[in-house]
Amino acid sequence: MRQPFVAGNWKMNGSRESAGRLLEDLVRNLSPGNREVAVCPPFVYLADAMRVLKGSEIALGAQNVSEEESGAFTGEVSATMLQDFDCAYVIVGHSERRALYGETDEVVARKFMAAVRTGLRPILCVGETLEQREEGITDKIIGEQLDAILGVAGVHAFKEAVVAYEPVWAIGTGQTASPDQAQAVHAMIRSRVAAADDTIAAGLRIVYGGSVKATNASELFAMEDIDGGLIGGASLDAESFLSICQSAE
Ligand code: G3H
Repeated sequence: MRQPFVAGNWKMNGSRESAGRLLEDLVRNLSPGNREVAVCPPFVYLADAMRVLKGSEIALGAQNVSEEESGAFTGEVSATMLQDFDCAYVIVGHSERRALYGETDEVVARKFMAAVRTGLRPILCVGETLEQREEGITDKIIGEQLDAILGVAGVHAFKEAVVAYEPVWAIGTGQTASPDQAQAVHAMIRSRVAAADDTIAAGLRIVYGGSVKATNASELFAMEDIDGGLIGGASLDAESFLSICQSAE
């Protein structure tokens, strides 16, 4: 009932040339299947990506968005601007933005709202650090991250959203959460949303991110509440990303 979703978060990698090559490889070689695929290149490559992806099965997303609509906000990019470049999705609350750029739950909630207001679909990232997992407060931390958005946006805003569970200790480390560890958190996220609305929770795509590779994607995506992945490093290589996409059906 939930269509699997796989998105590549390219982060701040590549060049105009390598981005173009990667996009063309993906468009040429993605086999049809019952899953949705998206890529999130750096802002400056969105115009090229829009042209290459036009008419393809691959959706476009951005890695960040301003909480503001327009005005004197040097360096920021609004949700409306992203729509000008055919973006359907935008990542909000990635742990790198939370940790390196001071984005609090309140800021993430405002960005989430800016996306929803404009008709962009937010990919909301949540996740615990290693210390928090070892302290046994994973559910508490993720519950707070979710409640911050549910409280401001309301559960109905989750109809269009994707939630990405990304344990911080698994991002870029090669240390993937086990399928059981990830499934337990995904089930907790779904039940938290279900407490506000059962139907929205049942339809909500919750994807896993953190060292997903071609070799471990199938076992993760086979879990009941894991509806695909948010892929970092492995999305920069066409062959790996395409193989991960094929695992999500
Ligand atoms: O947004 C993607 C995640 O941060 C995962 O990154 O696949 O390189 O671990 P990774």
